Amino acid sequence: MKIEERVSKHYEGDELLEAILVGVAALGKNTATVTVDDLSPVDEFHIGGRLATTELCDGLGIDDSSLVLDVGCGIGGSSRFVASAYGCRTVGIDLTPSYIEVARTLSEWTGLGKRCSFDVGSALKLPYDDDTFDRAIQLHVGMNIEDKSSLLAEIYRVLQPGGRVAIYDIMQKRDDTHEFPVPWASDPATSFVAAPSVYRMAMEAAGFSVTGERDRSQFASEFFAALQARSAAAEGPPPLGLHVIMGPDAPVKLGHMAAAVKAGTLAPYEMIGAKPTR
Ligand SMILES: C[S@@+](CC[C@H](N)C(=O)[O-])C[C@H]1O[C@@H](n2cnc3c(N)ncnc32)[C@H](O)[C@@H]1O
Repeated sequence: MKIEERVSKHYEGDELLEAILVGVAALGKNTATVTVDDLSPVDEFHIGGRLATTELCDGLGIDDSSLVLDVGCGIGGSSRFVASAYGCRTVGIDLTPSYIEVARTLSEWTGLGKRCSFDVGSALKLPYDDDTFDRAIQLHVGMNIEDKSSLLAEIYRVLQPGGRVAIYDIMQKRDDTHEFPVPWASDPATSFVAAPSVYRMAMEAAGFSVTGERDRSQFASEFFAALQARSAAAEGPPPLGLHVIMGPDAPVKLGHMAAAVKAGTLAPYEMIGAKPTR
């Protein structure tokens, strides 16, 4: 099986939409009344959830005329947030077909079906013309992609001159191993976590100027502590949360990731790149 098939298989899950619907009902909502904010605990599949997306996009210069690409969009939470917060249009692309189906349905439920579109496809072969997008975001995706140079070159190609990319990935902070499974991989065969320097070099080789880099270790520790406290206080997870998208072994995957962040082995980093104007 090719790497991309294995990655997609890791994320594919049966009846995700049904599970989300159960959570929505437990909140006292339905498909007509559920909001982008209600869904954020389950559809922002990265450390720090909605807050991380908000802070990543702050200062990126997105406005209501922007067309934003969400690379490895998952079930589309970041896309819907960006479209609703900035009034713009978004295009999400992801390897995992069932995620794209769920992304489309959740966007219909929240009234964003016309402004958020989604495609099944690979970040390494984006099905878009050169110079298409004003901005690109990528949250917790690069850990599944070995060839960071091709990834950044593809994003560079589809961005307009003057466009910017904002990446928020888990990176290798210190050279050491960690336990599996983790949220992005069941075993090391589909895990390609790399150091910030690898991203920086790939960005620069593609033609980007690296305009920002931020280690989010402290933010991640606070997120894990809050997640644990919320679960303990409520005597179990809330109706909608990462356990719904990650399945029954969510605590094990999250535990391994949190331990690696605590040990200083892994850390979520933000990295911003700008494509020169012509
Ligand atoms: C941890 S999830 C993050 C999803 C989303 N960005 C979010 O933050 O909610 C990683 C996603 O990356 C996607 N992915 C991994 N490798 C990819 C590739 N080569 N091309 C497109 N999507 C990919 C997976 O299918 C999965 O949906």
